[in-house]
Amino acid sequence: MKALVLAGGSGTRLRPFSYSMPKQLIPIAGKPVLEYVLENIRDLGVTEIGVIVGERSHEIADVIGDGARFGARVTYIPQDRPLGLAHCVTLARGFLGEDDFVMYLGDNMLPDGVADVAEDFRAARPAAQVVVRRVADPRAFGVVEVDSTGAVRGLAEKPEHPRSDLAMLGVYFFTPAIHEAVAAIGPSARGELEITDAVQWLLSNGAEVKASEYHGYWKDTGQIEDVLACNRRLLGGLTPAVHGDVDEASVVQGRVVVEPGARVVRSRLVGPAVIGAGTVVEDSHIGPGTSVGRGCVLRGTRMADSIVMDGASISRVSGLAGSLIGRSAVVGPAAADPAAYGEARHVLVVGDHTRVEIAA
Ligand code: G1P
Repeated sequence: MKALVLAGGSGTRLRPFSYSMPKQLIPIAGKPVLEYVLENIRDLGVTEIGVIVGERSHEIADVIGDGARFGARVTYIPQDRPLGLAHCVTLARGFLGEDDFVMYLGDNMLPDGVADVAEDFRAARPAAQVVVRRVADPRAFGVVEVDSTGAVRGLAEKPEHPRSDLAMLGVYFFTPAIHEAVAAIGPSARGELEITDAVQWLLSNGAEVKASEYHGYWKDTGQIEDVLACNRRLLGGLTPAVHGDVDEASVVQGRVVVEPGARVVRSRLVGPAVIGAGTVVEDSHIGPGTSVGRGCVLRGTRMADSIVMDGASISRVSGLAGSLIGRSAVVGPAAADPAAYGEARHVLVVGDHTRVEIAA
């Protein structure tokens, strides 16, 4: 079995971050989403991995390399325009050959793994096996309808009136039968070749399609709130380890990782939390659910439930929560220069589609 990982796409719902980085590289508990994806694939015993990449291919290749770090061999497959998940299968035709494969969306987090589904698929080899779970509002997903025996009866992409509450997660298992299906379908209303339509085509043409219900933790990290929720969840599974320097005036409570070269001075760290390599934390209170990247500086700051990316600096800000701070961003008090700003108390230099919420 091979794997096809989709890491193209523009990630509009993750702006402004997706302006400057592929959404699959957003760090969760200190590690890019895509690394969790590749680790899960490796855990299925799959070592031949094709990665579909868009215009930010170089950044992805810089982080993932040739895959050796994951015990795999990665082949990059360029996609000029995001024309849909089924389009990705057609682009990967040469790489996939006549092998069965698992298709995995590079922004989906399933930290509990899909080994049991893979085992099931390998044993029975239906034309397609999709992974589903019950969700409160399925309208944002591909939706699967199953009958009382558990057999798949129909699929629909983001239906306005869903016929079930079973949403398709971003992991699919296919035999080479899918290639005929992706060639047969046309674009959807949103102008994309939908994998959901290709699977429906298989079903309509008499092929066997199975759905496996997944009960573990799952997040499509397509939106900021999902990224933070996933961060909280994964931090909760950390193995505490203090490699950096924590001075005597500091307190470390709960599951906390302080990476090598980090320095913690007169501060309180309450886990679960990660402080990245080379980061300096001074006179600060870093609360639960926070991961701080590498080379950051936090001074006189109180924050919880947030992600701070590499190279950011935050000084003298209290009560930060639910925040996502981008790479090398600077957050701090305005310079005391009444001549320059008069009565103004806030100075904002924020990029497109940025959201700033200030205490009233
Ligand atoms: C895609 C699929 C959808 C699936 C979802 C899972 O949606 O089209 O069927 O339920 O991933 O994350 P998208 O994220 O492209 O909106």
